[in-house]
Amino acid sequence: MLLRFISLLVFFATFSSTQIGLVNSHEESGEWGCDSDPETQVQAEYKPGIITLDGHADDWKYVDGFEFSLLPALDPDQENAYKGGKMTVKALHDGKDVFFMLQVDGEYVYSKGDNNKCPSVALMFQVGEKASYHNMGGCKASPDTCTSKTCKGSEVDIMHFSIGNAIPGRLYGGNPIDNRDGNGGDRFGHLVDLYAWNPHCRHLDGLSPSGNDTSAQNNWKGAWWHDSLTLHSGFIEEDSPYASSGQKGTYYFEFSRPLRTMDRLQQDVQFTIGQLSKFSVAFWYPVDGNPWLGSGHYSVSCDWVPLDISDSSSVLRKVASRSYWDAASAFSLILSVISVCLSVFIGYRVSKSKAIHFTPMNDHL
Ligand SMILES: *[C@@H]1O[C@H](CO)[C@@H](O)[C@H](O)[C@H]1NC(C)=O
Repeated sequence: MLLRFISLLVFFATFSSTQIGLVNSHEESGEWGCDSDPETQVQAEYKPGIITLDGHADDWKYVDGFEFSLLPALDPDQENAYKGGKMTVKALHDGKDVFFMLQVDGEYVYSKGDNNKCPSVALMFQVGEKASYHNMGGCKASPDTCTSKTCKGSEVDIMHFSIGNAIPGRLYGGNPIDNRDGNGGDRFGHLVDLYAWNPHCRHLDGLSPSGNDTSAQNNWKGAWWHDSLTLHSGFIEEDSPYASSGQKGTYYFEFSRPLRTMDRLQQDVQFTIGQLSKFSVAFWYPVDGNPWLGSGHYSVSCDWVPLDISDSSSVLRKVASRSYWDAASAFSLILSVISVCLSVFIGYRVSKSKAIHFTPMNDHL
């Protein structure tokens, strides 16, 4: 009986800790022969008030980065990886906006007005629950037939920064003039807000072949920089190309967006603190001076990368309650064992004392 009781206790203690352990399990992934690492995840911690959106990375130095090889997106083969090096992705949020810093080594190249002869980056996010990384949402419809109805659930959100007209260190993206027109465009620096259902059904937010909706906005902002540029009061367009070409160094691309937008068209990803989003990063570089093609980009992964908009305080709370639970269950186990032993001991003493003859009180009267 005692043994059974103890083993029952031990069973419950083990069962509870296994249940807690399940929280740490991860999702599996995989399609079209993609070997993405299921452990890969980018953490956007809550760190308010440290980032200035200027293209400079010094304010990111205490933020952990995640390193990715850049493989050709259409044929992720290690042999054809970007020769310049890996890309470091950093992310954080301040409770209102999410921030990204992308760092990638590359010799300085800049051709004013020619986006395809300058490096370029894009971020892509899953919006619809069916949207696959592969084929930008993966809707099967053709350009003539893709609509918000035929491709419902396959929406992805894209931010693309082409720097051919963007002065280093200056802010681009959502601006009052393009936002007044109600679309995701940026006529000044080409930091645009797009959505797609597949690579052939890709449009600026608010625009679509079947009609425009002027409620859309460009919600992104960003800036770029390179190590070979000298920091001073600020570049203007006439300073182009801003530095001599071929200098070694790192490119920096920095972005921010509100966690939530006023999108009513299912064209923007919406971030929730404490939840995972799915994203990816693309990079274009004019290798050997040759202009890049839209499809000729590198990517950090061949599938979605989880992006944790983390609630730092809840992480702490989870860890705290977990160790509290472990300590509490260990303590109650010890306590139960002690009390069981005590009751056995008392029971033994009581049964022993039964040997003493019971004398009714009446006998003495
Ligand atoms: C939608 O807006 C774009 C850009 O402003 C314009 O070129 C196009 O003609 C518009 N389409 C319709 C159907 O109004």
